[in-house]
Amino acid sequence: MLEITNLTVAYGPIVALDNVSFSVADGSITAVLGANGAGKTTLVRTISGLVRSRAGSVRLDGRDISRLAPEAIARLGIGHVPEGRGVLAELTVEENLRLGGLSRADRADRQAALSEAYELFMPLAQRRHLPAATLSGGERQMLSIARALAARPRVLLLDEPSLGLAGRVLTQIMARIKQLVEDRKLSVLLIEQNARSALSVADDAVVLSLGRIVAHDRAQRLASEEGLRHAYLGF
Ligand SMILES: Nc1ncnc2c1ncn2[C@@H]1O[C@H](COP(=O)(O)OP(=O)(O)OP(=O)(O)O)[C@@H](O)[C@H]1O
Ligand SMILES: [Mg+2]
Repeated sequence: MLEITNLTVAYGPIVALDNVSFSVADGSITAVLGANGAGKTTLVRTISGLVRSRAGSVRLDGRDISRLAPEAIARLGIGHVPEGRGVLAELTVEENLRLGGLSRADRADRQAALSEAYELFMPLAQRRHLPAATLSGGERQMLSIARALAARPRVLLLDEPSLGLAGRVLTQIMARIKQLVEDRKLSVLLIEQNARSALSVADDAVVLSLGRIVAHDRAQRLASEEGLRHAYLGF
């Protein structure tokens, strides 16, 4: 279980997260919604140790991870698919996937991770020996997600995975992620601009506005609140 308590993050004078608290249960998807600049990316970058909080804590199964280095946090099972993809352009598709699976001790297990990735994303299988630089935007997004999954994370942080993906591909990816949530008790934080589609797959949702939580509820319930939808979610 991932627990965020009184988290405050500032970039100089700009307070990007202000006293944010919520938790994500094992085997559930929590959507993080809000306008541009609301603090969504800051939240996931803080959880994965790339940004340091000013106050508050991030706990994984009761252990405070908020002062650990990003690589230690990744080793504990927190996978991060960053906004704007972040694959290594000079490496081939397969090399990127192997990097993702590096933390897995067992060789057979690492091989299985590769096969799973190719099974999930056919375009990656066909392009396995090509540099990631040659991939289309959507294919790069697939690679970024596949690389994070190759590490078999317990918690997956997805920062706008829909960016550049065709609706059908996104539906496939979300179906696969939902399956992992159920089978492996994976927990997911899903950041999305498209609130409607995020609420349709999420169990819970958090709405951020100017760094503060303005709503936190079951996703279905939030989707039915007209005032909130108009004020913060744009649908
Ligand atoms: N490295 C940084 N230095 C200074 N300010 C930053 C930095 N990163 C983010 N900010 C500011 O913090 C606030 C929150 O930004 P953040 O990227 O977390 O928003 P977001 O909700 O992910 O927005 P978007 O939907 O546009 O991706 C914004 O006001 C942004 O300008
Ligand atoms: Mg962002």
